[in-house]
Amino acid sequence: MTLFLLPSILLVISAVHAFQFEELAHYVDSHQEEYVEALRDWVAVESDSSDVLKRPELHRMMEMTAQKLRSMGGNVQLVDIGVQELPDGQTLALPKVVTGQFGSDPNKNTVCVYGHVDVQPAKIEDGWATEPYNLTDINGNLYGRGASDNKAPVLAWMHAVEAYQALNMELPVNVKFVVEGMEETGSNGLDAMILAQRDTFFSDVDFIIISDCGWLSRRPALTYGTRGNCYFFAEVEGPKQDLHSGVYGGTVIEPMTDLIGILDTLISPSGKILVPGIREAVAPLSDEEWRMYQDIEFDINDYKSKIGVNQLMYTNKVDLLAHRWRYPTVTIHGIEGAFSAPGSKTVIPAKVIAKFSIRQVPDMEPAVVKKQVTDYLHSVFAKRKSPNTLKVTMIIGAKPWLADTKHALYEAGRTAIKKVFDMEADLIREGGTIPIARTFQDVTGKSIIMLPIGGFDDGLHSQNEKMSRYNYIEGTKLFITYLNEVAQIKKSV
Ligand SMILES: *[C@@H]1O[C@H](CO)[C@@H](O)[C@H](O)[C@H]1NC(C)=O
Ligand SMILES: [Zn+2]
Repeated sequence: MTLFLLPSILLVISAVHAFQFEELAHYVDSHQEEYVEALRDWVAVESDSSDVLKRPELHRMMEMTAQKLRSMGGNVQLVDIGVQELPDGQTLALPKVVTGQFGSDPNKNTVCVYGHVDVQPAKIEDGWATEPYNLTDINGNLYGRGASDNKAPVLAWMHAVEAYQALNMELPVNVKFVVEGMEETGSNGLDAMILAQRDTFFSDVDFIIISDCGWLSRRPALTYGTRGNCYFFAEVEGPKQDLHSGVYGGTVIEPMTDLIGILDTLISPSGKILVPGIREAVAPLSDEEWRMYQDIEFDINDYKSKIGVNQLMYTNKVDLLAHRWRYPTVTIHGIEGAFSAPGSKTVIPAKVIAKFSIRQVPDMEPAVVKKQVTDYLHSVFAKRKSPNTLKVTMIIGAKPWLADTKHALYEAGRTAIKKVFDMEADLIREGGTIPIARTFQDVTGKSIIMLPIGGFDDGLHSQNEKMSRYNYIEGTKLFITYLNEVAQIKKSV
């Protein structure tokens, strides 16, 4: 009798894919110290992609990443993406992109986790309280360069897969990894690699997951949009060399005066972009968006004190979030050729180049923005009747990225967050640009979710970057749970 019953019971259990969260969570808790040690080993590698002298460290970091995936039994490749051209004409090998694969069951969904293991520069002299490459635990915060951006999240994904393996539980989805080492300097070579592997590595991927951003508050978040960026140079050139302002001032029409004059016509003091056509192109704020923003946890006073200002452009939460995420803005970054050293040099600079950018949002098109800005600045400049010459160029045209929050990927995210944190997820956007999201979307046509585990105060790119143990460990549980939730999404055909 029992002999007949047993197989049918087993069948039922495997059919509902019982998700043993408690066991997995317990496994994560009891391996916490190992996870911290793994992060310590990774943070100790100065994988600064901007410093050519650190390139051997970066190569070592990619090798360590590959080794970690190999040790987990993955099918791992180190993909050569060629060389980088240096300003002096020399070439330097780019760090290889690490790909890994766990499982290839055609009946399961396949997710591809993207992350990076290169970091921003860091020196203790910059004002770090601890050695930036020596992970230091202070009150449950793990301080170290790259801890939050993006080493701990990458490790957390690996540990999530490892936990299933260690408990002999079948992975609910096939998991692929793409880990690069040039993110902080613009992901050189990655676009080409994605394009080249579109019909191979990426062909069976259903969903792409990026965990390279942070929460907005203490509430866990799902990120569904990023702004793009159009970066411009405006060059005004006059006399054939710099001049003495005492000797020539008053007779020469000065390039700097022209430049400041036209820059001042880009944006009003109240933040209104004055370039015709730009505001008109922006998708209007829907009632639904307004309600979503209204529900988000965001403390204006915290935000003000974090950046050290006592007045912001707007006074209410919805306006602030909307202008941070879904409206364009103009920022003037600097002027090359201007006298900027200490002291009081009485110079008339002969040629000055302003650097400014416009953050892109739906439905702005970089090519259109380029024309709008160029035409407008030339028309403003023409009114000055200056003999100097103006040249406007757009050197970056990165598009924004926006996901559908009603997509099953986001439903899965909300469910997983509820399960692990017992909180509703905040649905947020990033004001900054993560161009790779848009590339993945455009090249592979797959749906993408950003599932951050970094804290709102992790200090990415600044001094004293950290990842809290809480976010690291609970984030690992979130990833474990998320894999199970994504398995429930009906496989597209
Ligand atoms: C890292 O910091 C600890 C103290 O937190 C210290 O004992 C250790 O020597 C440091 N290691 C290195 C390599 O600097
Ligand atoms: Zn990052």
